[in-house]
Amino acid sequence: MQFTAILLTQALLLAVGEASKNACGVEPCAQITQMTSDSTNQDQTTTSVPYELAYQCLMSMPFDKDRASIFLNQVRKILEFQSTIDILKRYKMPATDILGGIDSIIDKVNNTSYSSQFEMDLDISNVISSAHDGHLAFTLCSQSIFNFEIDLPIVSISSNGLSLPDVYTLNDAKAQLNGVKTVSPIETINGTAVAEYLASYAFSQSLQDQDAQYNRVFPALARSVTNTPISPNGIWTTNGAWTEGSELSIKYSNGTTQTVKKTATPVERYFSYDNGTELYSIHCLPQSISTETASDSTAGAEQASEVAGFPDPTLGDASSIAGYFSDLTGLEDTAIMFLPTFAGSPSQVAQIAINFLKNATAEGKTNFLIDVTGNPGGYMSTGIDMSRIFFPESTPYTATRFRAHETARYLTQAYSRDYTDDSSNVFAYKETVMPNQTTRFASWQDLYGPHDILESSSSSLLANFNYTSSSTKVYPINGYGTIPLNPSKALFPAEKITIMTDGDCVSTCAFFVKLMKRQGVRTIAFGGRPKNAPMQGVGGVKGGQSLSVGYVTGFIQQANTLIRNAANTSSPLLTTSQWKAFNDSSPSTEETYAWSGNLNLRNEYDPEDDETPLQFIYEAAECRLFYTLDNYLKQETTWQAAAKAMFGDSGCVNGSTGGEGSLDS
Ligand SMILES: *[C@@H]1O[C@H](CO)[C@@H](O)[C@H](O)[C@H]1NC(C)=O
Ligand SMILES: *[C@@H]1O[C@H](CO)[C@@H](O)[C@H](O)[C@H]1NC(C)=O
Ligand SMILES: *[C@@H]1O[C@H](CO)[C@@H](O)[C@H](O)[C@H]1NC(C)=O
Ligand SMILES: *[C@@H]1O[C@H](CO)[C@@H](O)[C@H](O)[C@H]1NC(C)=O
Ligand SMILES: *[C@@H]1O[C@H](CO)[C@@H](O)[C@H](O)[C@H]1NC(C)=O
Ligand SMILES: *[C@@H]1O[C@H](CO)[C@@H](O)[C@H](O)[C@H]1NC(C)=O
Ligand SMILES: *[C@@H]1O[C@H](CO)[C@@H](O)[C@H](O)[C@H]1NC(C)=O
Ligand SMILES: *[C@@H]1O[C@H](CO)[C@@H](O)[C@H](O)[C@H]1NC(C)=O
Ligand SMILES: *[C@@H]1O[C@H](CO)[C@@H](O)[C@H](O)[C@H]1NC(C)=O
Ligand SMILES: *[C@@H]1O[C@H](CO)[C@@H](O)[C@H](O)[C@H]1NC(C)=O
Ligand SMILES: *[C@@H]1O[C@H](CO)[C@@H](O)[C@H](O)[C@H]1NC(C)=O
Repeated sequence: MQFTAILLTQALLLAVGEASKNACGVEPCAQITQMTSDSTNQDQTTTSVPYELAYQCLMSMPFDKDRASIFLNQVRKILEFQSTIDILKRYKMPATDILGGIDSIIDKVNNTSYSSQFEMDLDISNVISSAHDGHLAFTLCSQSIFNFEIDLPIVSISSNGLSLPDVYTLNDAKAQLNGVKTVSPIETINGTAVAEYLASYAFSQSLQDQDAQYNRVFPALARSVTNTPISPNGIWTTNGAWTEGSELSIKYSNGTTQTVKKTATPVERYFSYDNGTELYSIHCLPQSISTETASDSTAGAEQASEVAGFPDPTLGDASSIAGYFSDLTGLEDTAIMFLPTFAGSPSQVAQIAINFLKNATAEGKTNFLIDVTGNPGGYMSTGIDMSRIFFPESTPYTATRFRAHETARYLTQAYSRDYTDDSSNVFAYKETVMPNQTTRFASWQDLYGPHDILESSSSSLLANFNYTSSSTKVYPINGYGTIPLNPSKALFPAEKITIMTDGDCVSTCAFFVKLMKRQGVRTIAFGGRPKNAPMQGVGGVKGGQSLSVGYVTGFIQQANTLIRNAANTSSPLLTTSQWKAFNDSSPSTEETYAWSGNLNLRNEYDPEDDETPLQFIYEAAECRLFYTLDNYLKQETTWQAAAKAMFGDSGCVNGSTGGEGSLDS
């Protein structure tokens, strides 16, 4: 693992001290420009700068009240599509009022309470993150300029996987492994008990489960192979979000204390701005969208350490799907499938999964372990396909609803006649099917409803999509459409299959685990807060469709074309007054800032409960283990621990079995 080196820290800190003393000092952004260009090490892709200086630079961005008002009105209308906004007002994570939060920001803009773009963006992102929904995500223009760092990676480790873990610095943990006896765990951070401090640090993460959030603080090997925005070393060392406080006081259990300074690193390789106004013009104003691509640069860098910590696979490759046979004791009879994402080429993923299952059967393996650690999701069809590859005789159950509000109603009406072959367009009733896959909707009203579901105006229940029309060579679903059923019988019985997670299993990953659990597959969760208690296997969003804001506005524009084409015919789609109402409810297409956003369009439900969206139901894993240091360093040892607990008799964390919502409760 590589950690960003910090150059010239002392000298830089002096520079800030002077600047903040001197009211007519150099612009903070210009100071950062100076520091990064002074960096003598040419190979260095990133240069750390003082935390306070980065903050001052962001705070020196100007604020345009009129532009902000237009933007927030768009955002408010877009958020009407978020399927959970009504239920979130009563949910106890704690409860949150997303639209109310945006309204307060609109008030603050109106009475000129903001002095910089960054201040407003911070408020907006706090509102958005209070939903704890991985599908609801905004990337705002002032928030992809710096990464914030603490150069002190930490791990939460148990001596044997069963006893409660302590937090150590990674270096101390490694030293201890090498026999150094004098290291101590961290006891408090800034005076708060370490586990409590870290749980609260992780709380803004877009996961609905706090144990899953907690795991994001620490490193995870699986994160280094996918494009997840979560740093492989954890959000403790590198965080995209700014948090209060530029230094931390760490107290170890032997009484030693240490002060750690946070730093900031520009995301762009060449940071060059004279002032906050220039930074704003380039990063925030819409014509600069194309220069934004710099923000992905770290993902590429992390790809380099692709298979560090993983053995060579028997089949496939660790960045998408890989099969392993391991020589470690306890793994002799177990085939292991590592599945860190559902975003790999769907047909290749399917082929490798099928080959590996057959190969494992031929090799006489009797147990099957599926590792979905840190899996951020991907293609929904791949999730369904994978469940059908394991259980070809089952019919995967999918049932969703979208939020029935004015704009959605007119979209459903507008798409009632012509529709594109776009299976993500839930508003075209002719494209959609009921959950049993056999019955279609009779009319747009039949699909739209609305129905009052837990005090939320909701559509009728519809399947994720028509499996038959969706299944193609490119996006196969085993046994549907043109794809032959292969294998045609389950090669491993459910009781011999285990899924292992770290709770950080999001979107399609959550959905895949759900489909497998319905067949009786058991799960084991690793890590989480130090408690002798159950942990959820899936802590990420279980929503039925993630939709980008660009798609929302695309649907609206396309619908307008359909409405316009039919307007002066004998059968218009909307009356003039309906069309006007549609326009008034739709977000304006005026470009305001360079930003991107995403939302959860559809809730997903169980066959037994068509009212409570899946992510609001607590579902303990059947077993839980804590990480050992070995587990952080070598993924294979985690498979070994999981297999010994689930297929052997080494046991689970005390109090972790039979939890609410587990298969054994
Ligand atoms: C501005 O708006 C905030 C939030 O709504 C409110 O608390 C405050 O009193 C307002 N200030 C003025 C000067 O109107
Ligand atoms: C802005 O504030 C003024 C009074 O301070 C009020 O009349 C107006 O309605 C407000 N506008 C919005 C959009 O809230
Ligand atoms: C688990 O509980 C048993 C029985 O109470 C106890 O003997 C054992 O020490 C506990 N193990 C751990 C790791 O806490
Ligand atoms: C106390 O623990 C810290 C952290 O492990 C270690 O760096 C330090 O050397 C220890 N101090 C003593 C006196 O053992
Ligand atoms: C930690 O405490 C110090 C000293 O009180 C304070 O300056 C700093 O802001 C605190 N850090 C955080 C992250 O709260
Ligand atoms: C900010 O920097 C730009 C580019 O050098 C310059 O044109 C502009 O006048 C500066 N604005 C302020 C307010 O200093
Ligand atoms: C399983 O795959 C491995 C590696 O591709 C190969 O060496 C082995 O012969 C295969 N075994 C069977 C029974 O297909
Ligand atoms: C499919 O489900 C719908 C809605 O529950 C029901 O009306 C229809 O009869 C079902 N179709 C079949 C073939 O069972
Ligand atoms: C699903 O799609 C197939 C292929 O396009 C079509 O024949 C079938 O009628 C659709 N199912 C329903 C219930 O509409
Ligand atoms: C429909 O016809 C009216 C009257 O001829 C005309 O003003 C209007 O622009 C037409 N609308 C569209 C969408 O073609
Ligand atoms: C609705 O908006 C569209 C495009 O923005 C426009 O072409 C159309 O005339 C508007 N319709 C009405 C009734 O205002």
